[in-house]
Amino acid sequence: MRDFSDVVKDLLRLHSSMNGDGRIHNFGAGPAGLPLEVIREVIESLPNLNDSGFGLLEISHRSEVFQKVIDDARECVRRVLEIPDEYEVLFLQGGASLQFYMTALNILREGEKADYLITGGWSKKALKEAKRIGDAKEIWGDEVNGFKNIPQNGDYEIREDSVYLHYTSNNTLYGTQYHHLPKSSGKPLIVDASSDITGVDIDISRHDIVYAGAQKNLGPSGVTLVILSPWAVSRIRDDIPTMLDYNTHIEKGSMFNTPNTFGIFVLGRVFSWLERNGGMKGAIKRNEEKARLLYGELDRTDFWEPHAAIDSRSKMNVTWRLKNKSLEDVFLKEALENQLGGLKGHRSVGGIRASLYNYISVDSVINLVTFMRGFEEKYKNYENIN
Ligand SMILES: Cc1ncc(COP(=O)(O)O)c(C=O)c1O
Repeated sequence: MRDFSDVVKDLLRLHSSMNGDGRIHNFGAGPAGLPLEVIREVIESLPNLNDSGFGLLEISHRSEVFQKVIDDARECVRRVLEIPDEYEVLFLQGGASLQFYMTALNILREGEKADYLITGGWSKKALKEAKRIGDAKEIWGDEVNGFKNIPQNGDYEIREDSVYLHYTSNNTLYGTQYHHLPKSSGKPLIVDASSDITGVDIDISRHDIVYAGAQKNLGPSGVTLVILSPWAVSRIRDDIPTMLDYNTHIEKGSMFNTPNTFGIFVLGRVFSWLERNGGMKGAIKRNEEKARLLYGELDRTDFWEPHAAIDSRSKMNVTWRLKNKSLEDVFLKEALENQLGGLKGHRSVGGIRASLYNYISVDSVINLVTFMRGFEEKYKNYENIN
């Protein structure tokens, strides 16, 4: 039999983990941190979901209890993102990476044209998949400049007979982001919004397909939010494989096969948390403040070298190098010692990347900026010393 004091220790450990003790400020680019309130809801639902007697990981997707979970999640997504009633909302699997292919497969016919704005590695991957289906073309790209820029309207020409324009609203790797709706010359717009959906204002009604992997702002990995306009639905081909056909998932309410029940539950709780915390307006305000604080520090001294061009800076992923690159590993190590984690830049840019997704609080950013100031003070004469 277990000693009573072991049980008490277990309870104390559970209690402190539910209070977030020992958690770092997670600036990771994804899978990213989640609000502690949501983590608590997950912990509470694991043994028994909504008093059903079935645990969250053990419940049938065909049960009434799970049907309510998915219906509530969908409704909350619709409310928070102000999705027009006639749009479809799907929870799919395969990540945003599968959407690179599925969007083109469902919408394009052989030989038809689609135009792509190439602002980073993810747009390139989207284009590569679309080329398997039709005449997909890069009409604007910034690889020669290391993907520091977003196209400004007027920088590119959309082909007259192109079916749609595809863009990536936020470039997670390079830290650039559109601050305007790209000019599409009246063509339908498809957006990969994986790393800024619910972080900034995205007018769903002006897009025809919006897709996003959940693991940044929306929940855990393994569930992908896909939003389709009536135009997109009207274009769906009827000669494509069942699982890749949007109609399959529309007709079965995202439950043609076993969905990611856990991911959908968490996504629903994240949207509900957002709704309780001021909805999109609240998120936008907090994210603007966070970005202002961090870019303010990056512009304060040339000890830091921000990557993105000023007018293309992302509010979600902030990327920079240290002027003295040999200090970058020291920066990351000392940051972690100060409970600031997930800051290593993607290998395509190197250096540092701080992701400021919704879960990251203004306080976390203040902690980061305070650490950065101390670090600069400590190492600004480093070259001289050595
Ligand atoms: C903008 C963007 N698009 C697509 C992807 C790929 O997403 P997934 O891993 O869900 O396929 C990512 C992942 O980081 C991303 O940031």
